[in-house]
Amino acid sequence: MSMSVASEPISPDNRTTMGLGAVLPLTAEVRGSHLFIGGVDMVELARAQGTALYVMDERHVRMQLGTYRTEMNAHGAVADVAYAGKAFTSVAMCRLVADEGCSLDVSSGGELAIARAARFPMERIIVHGNDKTPLELTEAIEAGVGLIVADSNEELDRIDAIATERGVRQQVLLRVTPGVHADTHSFIQTGQEDSKFGFSAHSGAALEAAIYALALPGVDLAGFHMHIGSQIFSLDPFVRAVEVMVDFMAQVRERTGFVARDFDCGGGLGIAYRPTGEPSTIAQYAELLVGTITRCCAVRDLSVPRIHVEPGRSVVADAGVTLYTVGSVKRLPGIRTYVAVDGGMTDNIRPALYGAVYEATVANRAGEPRGTVVSIAGKHCESGDILIRDASLQPVTDGDIICIFSTGAYCQTMSSNYNKQVRPGVVFVSDGTVRQVVRRETYDDLLSCEVY
Ligand code: LLP
Repeated sequence: MSMSVASEPISPDNRTTMGLGAVLPLTAEVRGSHLFIGGVDMVELARAQGTALYVMDERHVRMQLGTYRTEMNAHGAVADVAYAGKAFTSVAMCRLVADEGCSLDVSSGGELAIARAARFPMERIIVHGNDKTPLELTEAIEAGVGLIVADSNEELDRIDAIATERGVRQQVLLRVTPGVHADTHSFIQTGQEDSKFGFSAHSGAALEAAIYALALPGVDLAGFHMHIGSQIFSLDPFVRAVEVMVDFMAQVRERTGFVARDFDCGGGLGIAYRPTGEPSTIAQYAELLVGTITRCCAVRDLSVPRIHVEPGRSVVADAGVTLYTVGSVKRLPGIRTYVAVDGGMTDNIRPALYGAVYEATVANRAGEPRGTVVSIAGKHCESGDILIRDASLQPVTDGDIICIFSTGAYCQTMSSNYNKQVRPGVVFVSDGTVRQVVRRETYDDLLSCEVY
């Protein structure tokens, strides 16, 4: 479906009057009074498709993946960019990732099933999860995935048994915990000692696991993996973690003679959810990461392994927005004004779960200043179902279309059917064209698992 394209874009910040800077998708602009993304009028789109609706700026996603690939390979190392599907996945997204020459990190059998439906090249799949089931491991090995990241001795045994039975050797990375605290929400820190993920480098568990894996006939140990957390602004923890990991790799070589071919540094680069946020850029991250690995390997006289990174949020978060229709405006004098919309914690759990903050605009008044403070409430049966507390918005009334920015990561993938809410669909927008990639659920979808 193609939507009409209106008059020329207006300034300032050269694209909109909203002053939202880095929070906006690449192609966001204001034309007349409406917000456009990908050359598509968000107000027309919302009215045509219904709300709530996730919208992805396809050019933004492609640009981020392309930048990761260029920057990671600009410093003399060989690097692979594996997009982390847990941030946002769908068949169309998997195809886009394949098309951009990237690999894919899957964290469950379900994500693998989506990748297979997209005919994603299996040799470019990296399989994650701190407790993969025997069925998930079997599916992955039979599908011929490139790498499985092993998280426990039990998993190593299972991979060995499944692969041996099928007469194959599975390439495996060991997930190692470097014992580094990333400066982020405790729920999404993963590199510290007290973690359900991986084998500890400091305690010696990782070295023992490497020795163990090297002796398993069905396991072809390719190297090591770390992931220290998500939404990380400061690059220092990445440097400290790499130092620990390269020390560890040197220790493994000393004890066993094994030299890692692959080193996967996980994901974690943060993004700006507010215009005031100043995350590190992909270029800074890549230069520091590759530079640190190269320097540490030189000191230890190790050849530089193939480097993998697994970005999720920094690829899709700012590319995505969610559109809602305002149902009611409740003014509580002296207290606050609640603007209720036709979605909420079922399509974006992050404010309730992490206290995450977002920016928004009234898409049909995007050319006007955002001077009114209101709270955007969801429609669910919880007082905590507030999407944005004290949002700065244009004057708002029922029927208006609200656009919440930076919702491209960890919103659709963490959505739920609480209150038996049907999940929104997802559209990709690009060059004035709308492509539906996930349709909105129906009541029949809700009933499809009921047995009666
Ligand atoms: N690799 C591994 C092994 C991971 O566990 C993750 C994220 C990533 C890569 C991608 O990290 P990213 O580049 O997206 O930071 N639901 C939380 C985020 C959980 C992240 C889990 N692991 C949120 O909404 O903030």
